[in-house]
Amino acid sequence: MDMISGIRAKAAGTASDAAPSAARPALADELVAAFSLAGRNAVVTGAAGGIGRQAAVTFAQAGADVVIADVGTDGLEETAALVSAAGGKATVVPTDVSERDQVNKLAVAALRAGGRLDVWANVAGVIRNTLIVDATPEDVEAVTRVNQFGTYWGVAAAGRAMKQGGSIINVSSAGGEMPAPTLSIYAMTKAAVNHLTRCAAVELGPARIRVNAIAPGFTDTPMVQRNWTGPDGTVDDEARARLLDTRAAQSPMNVTGTPEDQSWAMLYLASDASRFVTGQVLRPNGGVVMA
Ligand SMILES: NC(=O)c1ccc[n+]([C@@H]2O[C@H](COP(=O)([O-])OP(=O)(O)OC[C@H]3O[C@@H](n4cnc5c(N)ncnc54)[C@H](O)[C@@H]3O)[C@@H](O)[C@H]2O)c1
Repeated sequence: MDMISGIRAKAAGTASDAAPSAARPALADELVAAFSLAGRNAVVTGAAGGIGRQAAVTFAQAGADVVIADVGTDGLEETAALVSAAGGKATVVPTDVSERDQVNKLAVAALRAGGRLDVWANVAGVIRNTLIVDATPEDVEAVTRVNQFGTYWGVAAAGRAMKQGGSIINVSSAGGEMPAPTLSIYAMTKAAVNHLTRCAAVELGPARIRVNAIAPGFTDTPMVQRNWTGPDGTVDDEARARLLDTRAAQSPMNVTGTPEDQSWAMLYLASDASRFVTGQVLRPNGGVVMA
């Protein structure tokens, strides 16, 4: 039997070596193993809310112990409770990622907590809207220090701490490739994250450390909820519906994203399922930006 006929016969269940007709498991063991993080230790920054919180929960659901970091400490405790509810173990390490010393201490705390480090997700990020002609040095510095420097120090600390290889996941943005008015500083930092990802993949590949990024499209998190939430926490439902409609209309599927849409892509990059993938930018964005 030639190869193609063999595959067809196997798919149809008529190949002579086809397995006896046992009930098909919900998910083949091979797939469970490929996407499992059992026994792995993962750091997630920006874990007090949004995509970082969901990444911590998803990694825990996949079997990892997580070390969760953020400047927002209240949110971290809530994330730790969600990780526990998912059956995982969370170690809380308050960290300002724009401070290199604090990021280095986070890596030390992660090694102390887990004995080894397998996954590091640089999720922390901030956004500011300003026209280029109006931007102040403080605007440029505040966003760059978190999004660009914070990611850089995270990659550096993870690169030193991952003694048995591992996976680093940077969180970029569709904005890093799609220019939009008032988002120049944010976009500039995210474009830098994309290229840092490729540079780090080249340097760290020999140590069997993979470095990839996700570039999310519009995802319903506190970062975007600021567009329809007043200072007193009141939600402007009309403004929300209007913005979600506008952003969905940029997608060929007329969709916007959820934190799970991002964390499941991150799980792929964290796990052995992506063992042949490094230096790539994965774009969970509903098709808004294609490359
Ligand atoms: N939500 C979206 O539509 C979207 C789209 C593209 C990219 N992203 C990126 O996804 C990542 C997560 O964003 P999100 O949407 O979950 O927003 P979010 O505001 O809910 O989460 C960002 C987290 O980063 C933390 N953070 C900010 N400064 C920090 C610092 N100096 N040190 C440590 N933590 C710090 C915040 O406290 C917050 O918990 C960001 O990098 C963001 O740029 C989001």
